[in-house]
Amino acid sequence: MKKLRLGAIQAMKGVTPITMITAYDALFASLFAPHADVLLVGDSLNMSFLGKSDTLSATLDQMIYHTQAVCNGAPDSFIICDMPFGTYNTKEDALAHSIRVYQETAADAVKIEGGQMMAPTISHLTHHGIAVVGHIGLLPQMVRAEGGYSVKGKDEASKETLLEDAKAVEAAGACMIVIEGVKSDVAFAIAQAVKVPVIGIGAGVHTDGQVLVWSDMLGFFESFKPKFVKRFLEGGSLVREAVKAYNDEVKARTFPQEIHCY
Ligand code: KIV
Repeated sequence: MKKLRLGAIQAMKGVTPITMITAYDALFASLFAPHADVLLVGDSLNMSFLGKSDTLSATLDQMIYHTQAVCNGAPDSFIICDMPFGTYNTKEDALAHSIRVYQETAADAVKIEGGQMMAPTISHLTHHGIAVVGHIGLLPQMVRAEGGYSVKGKDEASKETLLEDAKAVEAAGACMIVIEGVKSDVAFAIAQAVKVPVIGIGAGVHTDGQVLVWSDMLGFFESFKPKFVKRFLEGGSLVREAVKAYNDEVKARTFPQEIHCY
């Protein structure tokens, strides 16, 4: 399969919705790649795979390790690496850390959270040859500072701020924008207000595409079931049933059978 490049993804805006899904390892990345336009190595892996209560303790080394794995499993996919909390507080840090991502992985872009405040950083990165995906709306890396996760765009002032965030991030050179936890009508207005693709999560159907965390949408991360997630598989139940069947057969000495033996 031919690698999907940034230009081809951007050209999908207004033509066909873009499908993005998170991936954290080579095996699942290879399974997702044929049916996803973009793979995101999200710092959400800190919760679903490391068992932490938020994304804040994910490190750059971890993100690089997982991005390498995803790139190995899906070499033809467009791959985004999340910059973890604390790695882009200054423009210089952001550039040095993004360069590490580019030099140590085959990622196509990095994603950083924040609107107008992050515009100078995004501009610095793009001027130095880094493709940046913005992330506005509900910012998971702000969870401790804000005291929880809350939907944005509920009033006029919040809507205006989000619109300004999107425009600032685009003007700074972001190639795509993820918008999270935002009222559907506001996300729609934002998708119309900018030229780059706006990919929603918990932001309604009228964005330029959708992103979901794979362990949520396949029903593996069962303790987390927010309203915006649709489970396309009950993965947790399937795994438990399969491992129970294996255990039953081991205990009963019905596995291995003759066909499994040398
Ligand atoms: O970390 C992540 O998986 C993300 C998505 C929620 C967009 O940033």
